[in-house]
Amino acid sequence: MKLFISLSLVSLLAPLAVLAQSTDGLQSTSCVSSSSSSDSTDLYKTKSEVKYAKLFSIEYHNNYKVVNNLSTKDKYVLYQCGSDKPSINDASAFIPIPVSKAATWATTAAIFVEALGVQNDIQNLGTAPSVVSSCLQKLLQDVIEPFNEGNSTQTDQQEQNNTVVFNMPGGEDDNTSNTVYSVEYLESSALGRSEWVKFFAAFFNAEERANKLFENIDSNYQCFLNKADKEYNDIRPVVAWTSYAAPTEYNNNTAYWQISFADYKYDLVRDAGARMLNTTGKQSTMFSSSQAFLDALEEADILIDESFVSYSYNDLLKNYGISDKTSATYSWLEAGRVYRPDRLQSTAGGLDWFEAPVAFADALLQDLISVAHPKFSKEGYSPIWFRNLAKNETVTTVTAAGCADMYAQRQDPAGTCSSIDFQSANPSDSVYSGVDANETQDLIYDISKSEVINDDDSASHTHGGSDSSSSPSGSLSIRDGTTIIGAAVMALSLVAAAAL
Ligand SMILES: *[C@@H]1O[C@H](CO)[C@@H](O)[C@H](O)[C@H]1NC(C)=O
Ligand SMILES: *[C@@H]1O[C@H](CO)[C@@H](O)[C@H](O)[C@H]1NC(C)=O
Ligand SMILES: *[C@@H]1O[C@H](CO)[C@@H](O)[C@H](O)[C@H]1NC(C)=O
Ligand SMILES: *[C@@H]1O[C@H](CO)[C@@H](O)[C@H](O)[C@H]1NC(C)=O
Ligand SMILES: *[C@@H]1O[C@H](CO)[C@@H](O)[C@H](O)[C@H]1NC(C)=O
Ligand SMILES: *[C@@H]1O[C@H](CO)[C@@H](O)[C@H](O)[C@H]1NC(C)=O
Ligand SMILES: *[C@@H]1O[C@H](CO)[C@@H](O)[C@H](O)[C@H]1NC(C)=O
Ligand SMILES: *[C@@H]1O[C@H](CO)[C@@H](O)[C@H](O)[C@H]1NC(C)=O
Repeated sequence: MKLFISLSLVSLLAPLAVLAQSTDGLQSTSCVSSSSSSDSTDLYKTKSEVKYAKLFSIEYHNNYKVVNNLSTKDKYVLYQCGSDKPSINDASAFIPIPVSKAATWATTAAIFVEALGVQNDIQNLGTAPSVVSSCLQKLLQDVIEPFNEGNSTQTDQQEQNNTVVFNMPGGEDDNTSNTVYSVEYLESSALGRSEWVKFFAAFFNAEERANKLFENIDSNYQCFLNKADKEYNDIRPVVAWTSYAAPTEYNNNTAYWQISFADYKYDLVRDAGARMLNTTGKQSTMFSSSQAFLDALEEADILIDESFVSYSYNDLLKNYGISDKTSATYSWLEAGRVYRPDRLQSTAGGLDWFEAPVAFADALLQDLISVAHPKFSKEGYSPIWFRNLAKNETVTTVTAAGCADMYAQRQDPAGTCSSIDFQSANPSDSVYSGVDANETQDLIYDISKSEVINDDDSASHTHGGSDSSSSPSGSLSIRDGTTIIGAAVMALSLVAAAAL
């Protein structure tokens, strides 16, 4: 049975909602009787094949699956409950499936589980205040116990109470025997990140759901890409992803400015009908003076700021060392094309940017197209995640009240591309003022050429901390700026915000 709602929390609604949860698209939902016959029957008729993701693979056997970490050759052996553990020597963990008691530390992992519609199998969640999904917030109110992050004895008990604990390498308490790492944030493409839904599905025998979901994401993404390419190939604004880190005890009290070249951003920006800033010849992508940083941004038409601080336009201008915006000669500043991907937030300031856009690459691409080409849709479009700071656009706080059915499979927020009428670019439109329409093809990055990846930040870098091991909790590290783990990060971002 999947009813594990603790008695004190049982409400009238919760059991009804559990009953409403469908088993469509799930396979082998019950355990097998422990007999050797179980290994001669193919229990997993629906298999997932990996198309874009480069960091995991799944091998299917009759009554078990092996999920491989392709970088390190680590293996997770998932075997049908009731059957004998397969004899595999070098496994990192053996997990009986389908899992009905799971915990996630990273909010991103929880979104994948929600996208599969198996969130009634989550018992514990980490970084609860940073969860933005309204239905996960509702589950946290009514059913799911947050990890008690202040008490490691209790956290350990909570972890042991689950069949699997999803975490990231270096995350809090990441070394229990049932820990499984996911590294979707290290994938080199947006579709590769979203394809991790197949990784999570393997634990819940939810391959059919994952395949269907991802097929839709993929074809919708290709449609957006093709339409953007057709309409905007000749007018690709230059996008720079930037951040500022205030002086703190974690960075030797020295402020720095950074331009991000995380791998997945290259094809995403290209696919959105734009191009990445090329800083080759300007030496560094990390700067210790704001002037050097601003000089490197000379060619940028659009800025996307990912700093923890800078919540208003004036904060950003101050942090970037721009005292008089009217005297500036920067195209992005003059055109007021300054964005932050922080429109959707939890009450505590957690960002949906680390949740839904990771799982739904097509929605992410659609949002970025609207940043590069604000009039792309003849019907009009308001971005889900990007907020134009220069226009004083405000943050939207997401709460549990927005959840209609906490056990429903999370829907992809992307529009259906095939029914969106794209507007051709009009280079004389003011939205393109400053965009150099003649300089298009030569600066488009070819992501298949690894030498253009001129920065280490796709592997790991830190915001507000010099490295993760020097932080008090060991979990300040933000990988590629896309995944937040640990209460310390929340605390830090809140402290940083308050310090302004
Ligand atoms: C931590 O949790 C354990 C187990 O639940 C409990 O016995 C202990 O009192 C807790 N410690 C604190 C400081 O709350
Ligand atoms: C373990 O899970 C059960 C329900 O499955 C729950 O009643 C119990 O409180 C949990 N224990 C801990 C330490 O979280
Ligand atoms: C996990 O790591 C901690 C700290 O490094 C250590 O004390 C503990 O024994 C480890 N637990 C396991 C199960 O390896
Ligand atoms: C898997 O791969 C990633 C990077 O590719 C690595 O950081 C991680 O430690 C590996 N190990 C496991 C057990 O996932
Ligand atoms: C921190 O700053 C001090 C003073 O500027 C300098 O001497 C020291 O080398 C710096 N330490 C690091 C790790 O950068
Ligand atoms: C944004 O707000 C600032 C401060 O309130 C104001 O000076 C500025 O004119 C506003 N900009 C726009 C585009 O509304
Ligand atoms: C772009 O090309 C057009 C046509 O060749 C030319 O008239 C225009 O001056 C060029 N613009 C720039 C900025 O080079
Ligand atoms: C970046 O600019 C440099 C210098 O202008 C050029 O040599 C290089 O090919 C450019 N890189 C890409 C990927 O376009």
